[in-house]
Amino acid sequence: MRLKDKVIIVTGSTTGIGKAIAQRCVAEGARVVLHGLEQDLGEQVVNALGKANVTLHIEDLVVEGAAQRLVDVAITAFGKLDAIVNNAALVASSDIHSTDLPFFRKVLEVNTIAPFALIKAALPHLSKTRGSVLNIGSVNAYSGEPNLLPYSISKGALMTMTRNLGDTLHRESGVRVNQINPGWVLTEKEIQRKREHGLPDDWYKQIPNVFAPAGRILFPEEIAASAVYWLSDESGPVSGQVLDLEQHPFIGRNPPKDSNTIPRKKS
Ligand SMILES: NC(=O)c1ccc[n+]([C@@H]2O[C@H](COP(=O)([O-])OP(=O)(O)OC[C@H]3O[C@@H](n4cnc5c(N)ncnc54)[C@H](O)[C@@H]3O)[C@@H](O)[C@H]2O)c1
Repeated sequence: MRLKDKVIIVTGSTTGIGKAIAQRCVAEGARVVLHGLEQDLGEQVVNALGKANVTLHIEDLVVEGAAQRLVDVAITAFGKLDAIVNNAALVASSDIHSTDLPFFRKVLEVNTIAPFALIKAALPHLSKTRGSVLNIGSVNAYSGEPNLLPYSISKGALMTMTRNLGDTLHRESGVRVNQINPGWVLTEKEIQRKREHGLPDDWYKQIPNVFAPAGRILFPEEIAASAVYWLSDESGPVSGQVLDLEQHPFIGRNPPKDSNTIPRKKS
């Protein structure tokens, strides 16, 4: 019960990492506003977690006023707000050649501007509870895969937002802002996404050791376990921090140049 009686909004919690965070928050005693684009999937999560503990709001975050409506849902349903988790994101592939400006703007709208809008809308309530914000970024924030250019830039900007507001809001309003950068996580949609990118159907069972020393990639529950620490009072006054959650270091890594990474030519 590390989050007992806290009220938490988790964006993008109809699937994947957001769903796992919502499940874990409820298990730790919180009441949660579930949110995302998929009504049917959201209802399945409501049924699993119980109507007393959660309420569901389905809306695209880029629609004008969506952030305020999400905050209003939390206040109407539960009377206060202790934390928001900016988890929803548009995870879409494109490089410099295939990225046009409308697409770039869309990615920034969902992944960077929508989290900003939600923090702004939630701030009056978070100030009252001396609450917190947890942004879900990505290890792509530091540079990123070539074919995840707008996505990586959007997560880099989110990381700067976390550090900037983690300083400002903590001093001004007692509101902490932190971030988790997940590495490669096995979600329902990630399995599908990578198939669409040309990987074999069972790609997640044959990942080279250089990416997955454990023989598998991370599970959403492992990201959710860390989220509890940042959302709970256990993290005390810690603010403006970014935590990479991957199974190898990200900054400064120099992967081995052996047969794992560069297969021998067949003669
Ligand atoms: N899965 C990974 O390997 C991985 C790695 C690093 C970071 N992340 C990050 O973790 C977070 C969750 O990723 P996931 O893989 O679980 O995602 P997912 O694709 O499974 O789920 C995304 C969620 O966001 C919601 N969403 C997307 N666009 C939206 C919009 N415009 N308005 C409202 N809701 C919207 C969807 O409805 C869904 O609930 C994202 O921020 C992602 O960037 C994921």
